[in-house]
Amino acid sequence: EKQGFKHFMLKEIYEQPGVVRSCLEAYIDTHWTAADHTHSPIRLNLPADLYADLQHIQIVACGTSWHAGLVGKYLLEQLAGIPTSVQYASEFRYAPSPLTPHTLTIGVTQSGETADTLAALAMEKQRRSGHSAEFQARLLGITNRPESSLGDLVPHIIDTHAGIEIGVAATKTFVAQLMAFYCLAIDLAHHRQVIAPTQLEQLLEGLQQLPAQIEVVLESQERYIEQLAHDFAETQDFIFLGRGINFPIALEGALKLKEISYIHAEGYPAGEMKHGPIALLDAKVPVVAIAMPGTVFEKVLSNAQEAKARDARLIGVTPMDEHEAAETFDTLIPVPHVDEILSPIVTVIPLQLLAYHIAARRGLDVDQPRNLAKSVTVE
Ligand code: M6R
Repeated sequence: EKQGFKHFMLKEIYEQPGVVRSCLEAYIDTHWTAADHTHSPIRLNLPADLYADLQHIQIVACGTSWHAGLVGKYLLEQLAGIPTSVQYASEFRYAPSPLTPHTLTIGVTQSGETADTLAALAMEKQRRSGHSAEFQARLLGITNRPESSLGDLVPHIIDTHAGIEIGVAATKTFVAQLMAFYCLAIDLAHHRQVIAPTQLEQLLEGLQQLPAQIEVVLESQERYIEQLAHDFAETQDFIFLGRGINFPIALEGALKLKEISYIHAEGYPAGEMKHGPIALLDAKVPVVAIAMPGTVFEKVLSNAQEAKARDARLIGVTPMDEHEAAETFDTLIPVPHVDEILSPIVTVIPLQLLAYHIAARRGLDVDQPRNLAKSVTVE
């Protein structure tokens, strides 16, 4: 069943190019060009009135799905211009945000069975009862299991098509959730006419290239990251830094490492380091910085320099060439040049591999980490 892989997690990491391809095939008209701008290239099969007069989106989720929600917020705000909030389902259910008839609530859960996420959505359903049918319908689930309890609860679903995931650490289901958010944000941006057809065409071209770019990372980096993992088998603390759309990827890199290797890890928006966490740094704390060219590239590099000045070993996940990267980073994990807005799908891959190989090196049960279950069906 593991098809030659030592663990399901590694097999599932390798399934990611195929998962992205499935999402592209399912939801995107690959023949769309800017000349077709009167209709959307996205086929999510959502009713048009779900998008009408939309003024706010609230996303509820837990764990890795919450990280996907943070990337979703970036996309929904920056591409579609819709104010979006992302809440931990466990917090939201006891302190819900005020609701308006113009709010769309999105629950993200790969299993479709997470108790807190289901409870938060059930509460939202309840809060809408007695209001217009249109308002009651403004509930959307993003899941890998449409036939789950989530599927029974909400009127609309985006199926992420990731296939069954066995490893407790979410990998391919995360990337598939990101694909769902790309589709939703692009569709909304098109609907609201806030994206130029040429920009949309470029985005679609970029999305089509992602499976091959993930393959490049897997083929070129896996052995190297396996070697690198030797250096960190005894490490006690790790810091992950990212900004903008890659801040949630820093959180995800830290969560992956925590849950399967039991190493303490924190993800931070790189600009926040100087407001406290930088006091943690010394030569014993490696820092992984995600530095993708774009709006915050120079900022991330200067934040990384600040960490280096505290003797931290600096690992860069970046497409910079070796020579250029050596000015900032002690260790380079090269990734392909990818448009900043699409980059999380690529930058998360080496972080998954790093967590996997450190845990494997420590001889841990990667697929069944202690204290964790695949679905958290209790509050
Ligand atoms: O099934 P869900 O997406 O609702 O699960 C949410 C979290 O329990 C889950 O993402 C958890 O954080 C994973 N083990 C992360 O790898």
